[in-house]
Amino acid sequence: MGYPHKSHPRETPILSKYFGDPEARTLEGWKARGGYKALSQALATDPVAIQNVVKESGLRGRGGAGFPTGLKWSFMKLGDGKPHYLCCNADESEPGTFKDREIMRWTPHALIEGCAIAAHAIGAETCYIYIRGEFTEPIAVMEAALAEARKAGVIGPNACGSGKTVNIWVHRGAGAYICGEETALMNSIEGRRGNPRIKPPFPAVAGLFGMPTTINNVETLAAVPHILNNGPEWYKAMCLSSPKSCGSKLFSVCGNVARPGNYEVPMGFPFKEFLYDLCGGPLPGRKFKAIIPGGSSVPVITIEEAEQVKMDYEGFMEFGTMLGSGGVIIFDDAQSMPKQLARLARFYAHESCAQCTQCREGTAWMTKILERIVAGQGTFEDLDTIFELTENMTGKTICVLSDSCGAPVTSGITRFRGEFEALITGKRSSTVAVG
Ligand SMILES: Cc1cc2nc3c(=O)[nH]c(=O)nc-3n(C[C@H](O)[C@H](O)[C@H](O)COP(=O)(O)O)c2cc1C
Ligand code: SF4
Repeated sequence: MGYPHKSHPRETPILSKYFGDPEARTLEGWKARGGYKALSQALATDPVAIQNVVKESGLRGRGGAGFPTGLKWSFMKLGDGKPHYLCCNADESEPGTFKDREIMRWTPHALIEGCAIAAHAIGAETCYIYIRGEFTEPIAVMEAALAEARKAGVIGPNACGSGKTVNIWVHRGAGAYICGEETALMNSIEGRRGNPRIKPPFPAVAGLFGMPTTINNVETLAAVPHILNNGPEWYKAMCLSSPKSCGSKLFSVCGNVARPGNYEVPMGFPFKEFLYDLCGGPLPGRKFKAIIPGGSSVPVITIEEAEQVKMDYEGFMEFGTMLGSGGVIIFDDAQSMPKQLARLARFYAHESCAQCTQCREGTAWMTKILERIVAGQGTFEDLDTIFELTENMTGKTICVLSDSCGAPVTSGITRFRGEFEALITGKRSSTVAVG
């Protein structure tokens, strides 16, 4: 049930400091490492003051969109007499992203502490941790840690002796990508089909069971105790470039690379050094070609672009892509981009909940066209159709899954058009290496 996790000397291990350390999983072990001090103090502090500390720290959501966390919390109207809810999004279904499950596997009490602090800050007595059902080990570890925390009175009625109630429950999903979308996640907890809801109303007004609700990602919530322990200035000061991107970030690295895995670096870290130094560069005899840096739903960039990026929200945007969830997918020169992008499109077509015509039909059509091109039966008109299709699939649907299908595909065609054209003109087959 373990693996030898060793941080690279150039990492800044804050959330990942205890990855691989079985003792950090226990309540006693977590307390011995400074755990639950922040929660005790937070429960004795005014919720608005906690919101303000998180606002000052500059923490932004790590689930994909990067929304400022303290600001999100401040949308919850305190003292309105309604039950408030916190949902921790532990669905982690984005292809290429595998950091949240490691936080839960190794430091479950960090997440419990973050959830309890957040619940207090938004006036909630109940938090649901929504975990993808296939994550059997993280679920078992979280359940065991929650049982320990309840038994010790850290959470529950009179949490940490504060007189406040904080209940935290695990809710298992059945493994659908769409259930990571925040409103689909709430429907799923309510026992309905996990379909996204039209917004407004936004969750802070009418969320879970129609009540004010905040949804945050695992990594976001696990960062909160560290911010309270060390202060917002400490968190802000960690950034190496843009003052709008603060703290450290866990990046999951997969694909054609020497050392895949999770790496924690300060925001603004140079991507070139990240790829060649921390991740060990390409596999022997190969060269990097393209990167999807934020999980599969953001635009593809070339290696030449990636080598200039500073790894923060603004740094990725400068090159027309996004930090997203921080799932770095790497392609080397042996990969066929049309083939890889066809695979991604198929994923989105499979995961579409089918409520919106543009998404249901668009993702399926996009897949068909791409597969036709890969099979050597595409036309130049097909490329134009993909762009037209993407325009109709973007910004017009209930959630952004539809946009997510188009983003890697159109950016991939723009940057690697030659590979598509070579397949169309019959010069190359995608079943052999494309240089
Ligand atoms: C199709 C889809 C899937 C998503 N999957 C996840 C997920 O697995 N985990 C997650 O934290 N956020 C996911 N999100 C983003 C959430 O809807 C939401 O923005 C996030 O959990 C908010 O947390 P944060 O503010 O802490 O980032 C997904 C969004 C979409 C549209
Ligand atoms: S965009 Fe796609 S996944 Fe999102 S609600 Fe519409 S059909 Fe469902």
